[in-house]
Amino acid sequence: MTMERTNPLGQAQTLRELSLALRTLFTAFLLTIGFGYLAAVFYLFLVDIDPHLKMGMRPIAGIEMKYRGQPSGSRLEAALRGAMADKLRPEERDAIVGWVRGGATQAGFGQIKPILDRSCTVCHSAKSGLPVPPLDSFETVAKLAETDRGPSFVQLARVSHVHLFGLSFIFLLTGTIFTLTAVAPTFKLTVVALPFVAIWADIASWWLTRYEPLFAYVVFVGGALMGAALAVQILVPLWQMWAPRSNATAATARPSKS
Ligand code: HEC
Repeated sequence: MTMERTNPLGQAQTLRELSLALRTLFTAFLLTIGFGYLAAVFYLFLVDIDPHLKMGMRPIAGIEMKYRGQPSGSRLEAALRGAMADKLRPEERDAIVGWVRGGATQAGFGQIKPILDRSCTVCHSAKSGLPVPPLDSFETVAKLAETDRGPSFVQLARVSHVHLFGLSFIFLLTGTIFTLTAVAPTFKLTVVALPFVAIWADIASWWLTRYEPLFAYVVFVGGALMGAALAVQILVPLWQMWAPRSNATAATARPSKS
């Protein structure tokens, strides 16, 4: 195995030879990024996966719906056929669906308001304190009756640039620390480059899933690869900084300092 004689942090040959202050800084940073990543995965699960599982959908179908919109048209109709199906009788559901498909007009709202008041507003009103959209006025119901075509280009452009900027900084820093580890050169190269390829594939697929549902799989695989690369970039340096000398691979084959 070849090793650089010096690195950008001075004469230290291995992570464990860095000053205690630098190792503490790196450790705090890597742990914080790691917990941030776990929180992000938990958030995605709660927002994108769990509600769709409750509607009886596969997780990939949830990702597809996030970027393509509702196959059944509106959020209201999707809920009436999914998670909210048990909250009203079938003929009441058909009445609401008929109103939605008839253009969700203000004139027709009077017909369905009694159903909503009877079956829905216990929970779907500001008073209930639940984090659900209110269903007690024409405006709020009409909003949920709009056809959902997924995020607009403006929304996609916003989340895309935020993620491209933010993730590239994270992987620049974790990747730089990882380059200081003693691992096989091809492995090091792969782990440093992989997350960037995954980010490009992932974010491109957010846009492409609108046109081709198969890209929902790329979103999923891209996210998983990014997570795996991040885990390696965090765990290997932590191990090599703190593991007992006899165990750390870094401790072997130290070239003499000149
Ligand atoms: C017992 C309380 C309760 C009742 C009654 C209820 N809902 Fe819900 N509703 C919820 C909760 C909680 C959620 C969010 C979590 C979920 O999707 O399971 C929700 C979600 C929804 C959503 C999805 C909102 C979104 O952000 O896309 C719609 C639409 C909806 N309900 C419509 C209705 C309609 C119409 C009725 C009446 C037929 C109804 N709900 C009755 C509790 C209720």
